[in-house]
Amino acid sequence: MKMIKVGMIGFGTIGAGVAKILAGNGEIIRHRLGAGVELVKVADLDITTDRGVKLAPDVLTTSADEVINHPDIDVVIELIGGYEPARKFLLQAIDQGKHVVTANKALLAKHGDEIFSAAAKKSLSIGFEASIGGAIPIIRSIREAFVANRIKSIEGIVNGTANYILSKMSDENCDFDTALKEAQEKGFAEADPTFDIEGIDSAHKIAVLTRLAYGTPVPFDDITVTGISGITSEDIECARVFGYRIKLLAISKFDGQAIDIRVHPAMIPIAHSMANVNGALNAIRICDDMMEENVLIGHGAGALPTGSAVVGDVVEIARNILSGVGERLPAGSFQDKEVKKIPFKSISEIESEYFLRFSVLDNPGVLSKISGILGKHSISIESMIQRGRGDRGEGVPLVMMCHKSSEKNIQSALKEIEALDVVCEKSNLIRVER
Ligand code: HSE
Repeated sequence: MKMIKVGMIGFGTIGAGVAKILAGNGEIIRHRLGAGVELVKVADLDITTDRGVKLAPDVLTTSADEVINHPDIDVVIELIGGYEPARKFLLQAIDQGKHVVTANKALLAKHGDEIFSAAAKKSLSIGFEASIGGAIPIIRSIREAFVANRIKSIEGIVNGTANYILSKMSDENCDFDTALKEAQEKGFAEADPTFDIEGIDSAHKIAVLTRLAYGTPVPFDDITVTGISGITSEDIECARVFGYRIKLLAISKFDGQAIDIRVHPAMIPIAHSMANVNGALNAIRICDDMMEENVLIGHGAGALPTGSAVVGDVVEIARNILSGVGERLPAGSFQDKEVKKIPFKSISEIESEYFLRFSVLDNPGVLSKISGILGKHSISIESMIQRGRGDRGEGVPLVMMCHKSSEKNIQSALKEIEALDVVCEKSNLIRVER
């Protein structure tokens, strides 16, 4: 039986998942592919830790070069994450004529164009399904299933760690640190959890999806990113009272002229299709001109879900190899010459509904001062709650939902409100998405 030979650089959580899947599900893969997939070399700096899967002693190496330059290897899987040396290894593997598979969204968000074009020049495939949404087939959906559709928006819960934390805080009144620790123990978190909590991992993912959806280069630094570290139990409780859940959303909307791309915590109504996507689950909602909305939900992180997406890419490449075709479709979804720069909106150009939380003195006239400033900036209040009673001169929370307003007006109003001497702490703003 023909064997497709695979090498892997990085034997951490996902790498171990890939090895387990190839060992445990080798037979079903052979039955579907008509050939076998053999892991012939695995490189990692640490080859002594037990990863719960047995590999032949000559498979493990500490040298990535042994994978990249191995004459029999058809496909190189990169699972070390980060920018360097991952970028160097991928480019070297492509240079050696190897197809490549990666789960590295950070690298693709910043250097995707360079890697895509290096692979295209050699008619080699690059699989990166595992880079976004773990087991959710979002790359395949955009590049293949929705190939005829004009995408209008993508909104996603694309970070399992952040979703796990927010869900725990909402459902179990759990504090932030306990929830983060559990997410890390379960293997969802990035090496540096700041990327998960501060929205950077979600921004990497929405940058890649935007490139695929609209055929534009995406300047990563133009994405407005706010993480979940400013979300308090108070916000979560107020969201519940108003009939919303708070989710970290990655958003990319194209109105035909410009793209609105951002990552931030958002209030979504309890009836929203993603409001009950909890724990480490991910969800991605796509709206286009052919279907109102399509929501894909699944496991966005973890060894086996993400590992299965990696193996899915390997098998797709194996099919190309077996049928003698090079890369069938452009890595970035659009033909290279059709990739055109689309303008990006700055956050001050967007409009949204807003949740505002102030900490104010519980004195006569405070509400009228605040509502007066909002009114002056054309911001209309939809509903409002004041919690507690501040008869000892300390701040009480005053929260409001505002009708659709311009971000520019909201920011100017907040600046004015925060300068009032009745305001005790920095206010919080959460955008509402429907
Ligand atoms: N750290 C990521 C998450 C892993 O928590 O979703 C998958 O990219």
